[in-house]
Amino acid sequence: MLNNKFITAGLSVALASALFVTGCSASNTSTASNSSAPSMGQYNGKKDALDGGMTYKRENGMYTAYHINEQSTDKVNNGRVPTANELKAWDTDIMPDGTGLPEGSGSVEQGDELYEEQCAACHGDFGAGGTGYPVLSGGTLESLKNQRTCPGNDAPKRTIGSYWPQASTLIWYIRDAMPYAHPKSLTDDELYALTAYLLAVNNIKIDGEVMDDEYVLNREKFLKIKMPNRNGFVPDIDGPKGVENVRAFFADRKNYGAVGTRCMTDCPEEKVMRIGNEITNVVPPYSQLKDLPEKKTGGAISEAQELYEANCALCHKTDTMGAPAVGDHETWSAVMVKGMDAVNKNAINGTGGMPAKGGNMDLTDAQIHDIVDYMVTNSK
Ligand code: HEC
Ligand code: HEC
Repeated sequence: MLNNKFITAGLSVALASALFVTGCSASNTSTASNSSAPSMGQYNGKKDALDGGMTYKRENGMYTAYHINEQSTDKVNNGRVPTANELKAWDTDIMPDGTGLPEGSGSVEQGDELYEEQCAACHGDFGAGGTGYPVLSGGTLESLKNQRTCPGNDAPKRTIGSYWPQASTLIWYIRDAMPYAHPKSLTDDELYALTAYLLAVNNIKIDGEVMDDEYVLNREKFLKIKMPNRNGFVPDIDGPKGVENVRAFFADRKNYGAVGTRCMTDCPEEKVMRIGNEITNVVPPYSQLKDLPEKKTGGAISEAQELYEANCALCHKTDTMGAPAVGDHETWSAVMVKGMDAVNKNAINGTGGMPAKGGNMDLTDAQIHDIVDYMVTNSK
């Protein structure tokens, strides 16, 4: 069954942004910034904040709920190449299926104490944030649909409870990256305790059981965790009807925030979807050309080239199909030893893996001659 309720935050967030064309976007400066030439090769982000391919209006050093980092990154020290042993020590994934998940146990209460000592200074009480470091609790699935297009709008609240699809990522991340100043310093029991605590403050139930202070998390119970947003990244297409489910999903355009009907020519303006706050001041600027390059007409070679592309290139572009590759001088010299007449005959009648006329019997012998000329000329 396709679960519409959870149909993916990611998908609907991304697509909903295309629908968001009202309100503040009208006053957005992106069109005006076309005229002020940005410096070569750089996004000229002076007026708008840039995030995820969108520009956002700035107000008081912020865009929506986010501060803008004005720090220069000119003098970043890139460190050194890690040693093989250092790499090995970090190459210890913990996967959703339990691969790499250590044995151990810890209670919510123990986690609470550890959290107070080692984490709260940065992540705030109960993971509520507030000190400039990531918020670890709160947030709802519903908030993931929030858009960031206007200043002052609430951003999506991506926390462990609302966003993370797998608990394995959480325990893995804490083990390898936290506490910030001493990564990999926690014992496996401490790891379970801290993970239990963070799941508890996110109101996660395990196998239907509420995680109170006494709740002890271990490997076995860990593997039963189902995170609320587990279906939030891909449509649920499992099962024997997977293909049908996908078709049904994409057949109903409402599922992914699309409106209007498909249209390639003479499209009525009201049906055209516009991107809100589109980035326009890119270097080099987007091409505004709407025509294909003019077709070269006349001239035997250009017609031959077209016929070659349409009928022969599939096999002759490279040597992967065993055909002499156009452009490969040596191979073609060897072919031409037979003389042009013989080669033309082979192209017309076929030889070895070469089908007669490349498989297109509508081609005249004269056309084949032209194409072969083209191939030979371009392999000199
Ligand atoms: C010195 C400050 C500091 C301390 C102490 C600290 N963290 Fe963090 N934590 C951070 C920063 C900074 C990030 C974001 C790192 C990044 O995105 O690269 C982070 C990220 C995280 C995340 C991922 C959040 C997300 O949504 O991406 C988790 C989970 C986490 N920390 C847990 C912990 C735990 C558990 C502890 C205590 C054992 C801890 N942290 C201690 C600074 C800290
Ligand atoms: C399905 C693949 C395929 C297509 C399509 C194809 N060729 Fe070939 N062609 C081959 C292969 C394989 C050979 C090498 C045959 C051999 O020497 O056994 C070959 C060889 C040739 C040769 C050299 C013949 C010789 O005497 O050694 C010519 C000339 C040639 N193709 C022309 C064409 C032309 C013209 C077209 C399009 C109208 C075309 N081919 C389309 C596979 C293809």
